Amino acid sequence: MEAISASKRMLLCMLIFVSALQFIQCSVTYDKKAIIIDGQRRILLSGSIHYPRSTPDMWEGLIQKAKDGGLDVVDTYVFWNVHEPSQGNYNFEGRYDLVQFIKTIQKAGLYVHLRIGPYVCAEWNFGGFPVWLKYVPGIKFRTNNEPFKMEMQKFTTKIVEMMKSERLFQSQGGPIILSQIENEYGPESKAYGAAGKAYMTWAAKMAVDLGTGVPWVMCKEDDAPDPVINTCNGFYCDYFSPNKPYKPNMWTEAWSGWFDQFGGPVHTRPVEDLAFSVARFIQKGGSFVNYYMYHGGTNFGRTAGGPFITTSYDYDAPIDEYGLIRQPKYDHLKELHKAIKLCEPALVYSDPKVISLGNYEQAHVFAYKAGGCAAFLTNYHVNSSAGVKFNNMHYELPPWSISILPDCSHVVYNTAKVGTKETWPQMIPSNMKTLSWETVTEDISTGDHDAKLSTFGLLEQLNVTRDTSDYLWYTTSVDISPNESFLRGRQLPTLSVQSAGHGLHVFINGKLSGSAFGTPENRKFSFTRGVSLHAGVNKVSLLSVTVGLQNNGAHFETWNSGVLGPVVLQGLDRGSRDLSLQKWSYQVGLNGEAMNLVSPRQASSVDWMSLVASKPQPLSWYKTYFNAPEGNEPLTLDMSSMTKGQVWINGQSIGRYWTAYAKGDCQRCSYAGTYRQWKCQIGCGRPTQRWYHVPRSWVKPTQNLLVVFEEVGGDPWRIKLAKRTVRDLVR
Ligand code: GAL
Repeated sequence: MEAISASKRMLLCMLIFVSALQFIQCSVTYDKKAIIIDGQRRILLSGSIHYPRSTPDMWEGLIQKAKDGGLDVVDTYVFWNVHEPSQGNYNFEGRYDLVQFIKTIQKAGLYVHLRIGPYVCAEWNFGGFPVWLKYVPGIKFRTNNEPFKMEMQKFTTKIVEMMKSERLFQSQGGPIILSQIENEYGPESKAYGAAGKAYMTWAAKMAVDLGTGVPWVMCKEDDAPDPVINTCNGFYCDYFSPNKPYKPNMWTEAWSGWFDQFGGPVHTRPVEDLAFSVARFIQKGGSFVNYYMYHGGTNFGRTAGGPFITTSYDYDAPIDEYGLIRQPKYDHLKELHKAIKLCEPALVYSDPKVISLGNYEQAHVFAYKAGGCAAFLTNYHVNSSAGVKFNNMHYELPPWSISILPDCSHVVYNTAKVGTKETWPQMIPSNMKTLSWETVTEDISTGDHDAKLSTFGLLEQLNVTRDTSDYLWYTTSVDISPNESFLRGRQLPTLSVQSAGHGLHVFINGKLSGSAFGTPENRKFSFTRGVSLHAGVNKVSLLSVTVGLQNNGAHFETWNSGVLGPVVLQGLDRGSRDLSLQKWSYQVGLNGEAMNLVSPRQASSVDWMSLVASKPQPLSWYKTYFNAPEGNEPLTLDMSSMTKGQVWINGQSIGRYWTAYAKGDCQRCSYAGTYRQWKCQIGCGRPTQRWYHVPRSWVKPTQNLLVVFEEVGGDPWRIKLAKRTVRDLVR
């Protein structure tokens, strides 16, 4: 097969389109072997890079690194909730400039796989759905529901039309060769029965009817109707076959690592295992592999899903959160891609012939014209290496490895033999001089005085906040008789609060009495603690906190958060008093949020007090100014002296921080059946996330405003800014 580069082919396609000479048709089709671009079957190597998880000034560099790493395709979801923050109002600016992102990929000569969803999962707030969607009358997400289907169709059509008007589909000479509708609907579909099946069939037809001229895929959807291709997602996909013999074998999410949750361990995946899984998929006849993620990036602002997804979405990807190359992952995959490309003519030409070479050893041989062939030699044994004989030659195969022989004789690559040195991230302290810190504390008394909403009983959090803030105040009062015996030194009464998630700070008469949080395994939790009350009226203020909205699960739009009760005071002379049904006042968000304290223009609108010595104070805002460190390395903030909150630089939200310590099993990597080492856990006993990415483009040379909101208490004097670099480790 003639090797015309993707960029040349696109250009050719475009020229011919423009001059209306129909020699070559710009087209993407498929057959059982592969995606066919302009008449040629292709082995396509792809990587996920999500545009809102980096800044536009990083895009070109990331895409170039993807290209240099041997990728043909960049894959991204489309994130509905950032594009349509309120119904009918669209935003495609800055980090949300999808067209610009795609054009940057096009400029680099790569293809695009556009996963429109519009449900995306992705550890993204609410799975990518705008929160207003939940409040469309009569709506139920992701099932055969007319209001949902109408909104889904409207958004999908808008995106497709936008791409068409910019001539971005390959059928128009553009880079988009594939699109995805829905996301991993199979498991859901089964739970929803006939309605699920009807919705899935509708979604496929709706997408196909948009006439993009390029194929649609549905991942993890065994029933995907023709012509939609069902694809595999997972740590391994060699067991997978598409639902029709005339569809190609595609792997849309090869997990390069995994995401993290605050309070949990950090996940990694050894590159030897990742390379093994990819080679194993290709040797079985797979022709499309997408790394999820190739660059994970950062969940800036409040975009992290949840609950409890960390702000870092590093994913142990070949390009790290900061846009720096992670070794040996990057190079070892790059070498794999080169080896696969050397085999491409044979891979797309024939089906593999499988030859047994021993108990655990096999050869997969792809014949090519004129007697040529390419072979993959595999040792499936997890511990023992093996010597095998193939074509009268001897080959040594390390345990759990595949050797690639593009000419059926010379080994150009083995998945277990890593030649590149490991790199190790380094945080180089900067000489950031924070001249002074100033502070202002949330006025807890406003929790009910200014409340616009008060009612009897407890309200669900999202119904009140509509996710305009993580925070909702629930405030009530309790009248304590002077005769209560606990006032004379007996045991304190106990307040118990049941929350549907995700976190809670309890204030009694304006003083923090304690906090409680759900866990990634169980978002629901209870707070139970002795509380100091005095005779007369006592104010009970509950600050309920969400930490990213649920992004998956059956009908996750109906999952509750906030204080749903009961809220009970126990240990009074007459037993317990249920506060749940009494009058509660509600305040959405913090005063500092309402005053937009984080913005450089508004920051001076309150009376900040200079922070002399650090006394950890709950619900405190802190601000300082700093000059940028020299150079152009990415920057990062060490938040280990703080507890939990959010941080902004020059009005831009770096995201949520939380220094919750990682608990879990850090002793080993996971083994599953005959598979091994697909997920490892590290970092136990340390904060899951200590460092927070500050994009270079958000800082100016001098006078950068840094604002921190701290929920529990911490020491801002010890917040440090560092430059992020990587250095080699000798293996
Ligand atoms: C998949 C899903 C992705 C992402 C991934 C885990 O199941 O399709 O969107 O959530 O899991 O990172």
